[in-house]
Amino acid sequence: MQLKFWLGASVLATAAMFGSAPASAQGSLVMYCGVQEEWCRAMSTAFEKETGIKVAMTRKSAGEVYAQVKAEASNPRGDIWWGGTGDPHLQAAEEGLTEEYESAMNKDLQDWSLSQWKAAKKRAIGIYAGALGFGFNTQLIKEKGLADPKCWADLLNPKLKDDVQVADPNSSGTAYTLLATVVQLMGEDKGFDYLRALHKNVSQYTKSGAAPAKAASLGETAVGIVFIHDAVVFAVQGDPIKPVAPCEGTGYEIGSMSIIKGARNLENAKKFYDWALTPAAQALGAPAKSYQVPSNKNAPIPPQAPKMSDMKLINYDFVKYGSSAERTRLLTKWDKEIKAQPK
Ligand code: F6P
Repeated sequence: MQLKFWLGASVLATAAMFGSAPASAQGSLVMYCGVQEEWCRAMSTAFEKETGIKVAMTRKSAGEVYAQVKAEASNPRGDIWWGGTGDPHLQAAEEGLTEEYESAMNKDLQDWSLSQWKAAKKRAIGIYAGALGFGFNTQLIKEKGLADPKCWADLLNPKLKDDVQVADPNSSGTAYTLLATVVQLMGEDKGFDYLRALHKNVSQYTKSGAAPAKAASLGETAVGIVFIHDAVVFAVQGDPIKPVAPCEGTGYEIGSMSIIKGARNLENAKKFYDWALTPAAQALGAPAKSYQVPSNKNAPIPPQAPKMSDMKLINYDFVKYGSSAERTRLLTKWDKEIKAQPK
C-alpha cells in the first residue's frame, strides 16, 4: 500500500461530536491499549469524562494484546483494542477475533486509515501512522569515535557490540515492523543475514518497543531501534538523542483500533470507536508526548511529528505481513535463526 502523507494539516481540533457532559454513569468499557501509558491514560480519562462510561484500561505491547485476545476468545474480557501496530490487528481480524464495524467517522479519515479498514475486512481501522528508524545517544557515539549513524548498515559496526537495543518481535509491534521491514527492503535471505549480524550488537531484546528510545536517551545504550516518534519524545525535551530515518529506506506502521469479538460492552465499544476517530480525541496524543500522524484529516498534526513525506518509505505490504500465516512464519523463523543464536 502506498502511503500519501499530506503536510498542510487543517487544524480543526475541537469539533465535538459528543459535546455535553454526562449526567450519570453509563456502564463500563474494558480497553486494551497499545500506545504509551500517558496517552492511554489521557484517552481513557477523557472518554470517561465525556460519556460517564467507566474505563478499565491496561497497556500492553501489540503482540501481547493479540495473544491475550486470542487466549480469551472463548470468554472475551476486553471490549476495545485501541492502538498498537496494525499487523497484529490484521492477524486478529483474519482469525475472526474482532468485530466488523463501519463508523460514521470514516468519511473524515485519511486513505491509509481506510486501506487498513478494507484490508481488515472492516475489523480494524487506522488511527495514526509513524515511521520506523532509530535514535542514537550523541555523546556515546562521539566517545566511541564513530560518525553519526545514518543507515541501517551503520548499526552493524563492531564498535556497537552490545550497544544496540531493540524489542522482541513476539511481544512488540515495533520489533515486528523491523522484521517485516528488513525482509521487504533487503529480500528475505539478506534481511535475515542483516538481523543475524545485528544480533551480535544487540545487548537485549526488550518487551516493549519504545523502551530502547528511553535507554538511548539515558545513555544506557548507544542506539535504540524504535519508531522515530518515540525517539523524538526525548530529543524535544533536550536529552542527547538524535532520531534517524535510515538512508536505505524504512517501513512504517498504521496504528490501529479493533472491537473485540464477543465484547460484553459492545455498545460502549462502538461509542469509544466513534469518539476515538474525532479530531478532538486524536488531538489528545501530542500533549501526552505522542507524536504520531493522526488519521482524521481534520485533526492537528503535532509539530513535533517526524515528516514522513520527507522519508524514503517502503511500499509496506500490510496485507501480507499482517496475515496470520506470514506473521507466524516470520516470528518462528526469527526465534530459531536469530534469538536462539549465540553471539
Ligand atoms: O506509542 C508508541 C508506539 O511506538 C506506537 O506508535 C506503536 O504502535 C506502539 O508503541 C508499539 O508498541 P510495542 O512495540 O510495544 O508493541
